[in-house]
Amino acid sequence: MAESVIRLADVRRYYVMGDFVVKALDGVTVDIKRGEFTSIMGPSGSGKSTMMNLIGCLDTPTSGLIDIDGENTAGLNETELAYIRNRKVGFIFQQFNLLGKLTALDNVIVPLLYAGLSVHERKAKAIQALERVGLTDRLYHRPNELSGGQKQRVAIARALVNDPTILLADEPTGALDSKTGNQIMELFEELNSEGRTVIFVTHDRELGMRCHRQIRIRDGKLEE
Ligand SMILES: Nc1ncnc2c1ncn2[C@@H]1O[C@H](COP(=O)(O)OP(=O)(O)OP(=O)(O)O)[C@@H](O)[C@H]1O
Ligand SMILES: [Mg+2]
Repeated sequence: MAESVIRLADVRRYYVMGDFVVKALDGVTVDIKRGEFTSIMGPSGSGKSTMMNLIGCLDTPTSGLIDIDGENTAGLNETELAYIRNRKVGFIFQQFNLLGKLTALDNVIVPLLYAGLSVHERKAKAIQALERVGLTDRLYHRPNELSGGQKQRVAIARALVNDPTILLADEPTGALDSKTGNQIMELFEELNSEGRTVIFVTHDRELGMRCHRQIRIRDGKLEE
């Protein structure tokens, strides 16, 4: 049995809105093994992004425990959480979240700025990541000079550049047509077969069923 890379134990994320509490995540326990390719599906507002943000250490739970790659994140300070976020997790979003004024190459260099590398090393690593996603001929294009699928490839290269164990993709094909979405799915399948643990939020049942494992969520609770 492969080792666990992500463990959530009775995780809750509540938002207090005046005298009203939104239970965005309401007691989630899940164990994801190294190398798994898991989809998360569920209606809008069910807690999918909340769960991704917690796994990616972009947010902390109201209660419950989260282990990432063998580390209990509850004991960690902000610097240590940032380290996990930067080194162990690569994030990909529906709207790409690229910096509009930067070229594809410079967007991919951003996560390397704090890695203590020389300018040359950063550039070489970023080019390698862009090569991995098939974009060597678009290094100096800005986001508005790229197609949707190409923008998502740049975002994937940016997520890959620090060689993370875990890739978290929150509706990565949501803004793409089905043919382009399919190509992006194929890229995730390749990245998973190279050993990366992938979590893929989608509203597309067909894409979700292509993942090895499906997690369904409703009103902040799992219904696997
Ligand atoms: N910062 C916040 N403050 C208050 N409530 C929030 C906050 N963020 C999310 N929520 C609420 O938590 C619930 C879960 O939101 P979440 O974004 O995780 O849903 P989702 O499953 O990703 O939905 P979608 O498919 O539309 O992206 C929703 O009811 C939402 O309104
Ligand atoms: Mg969401």
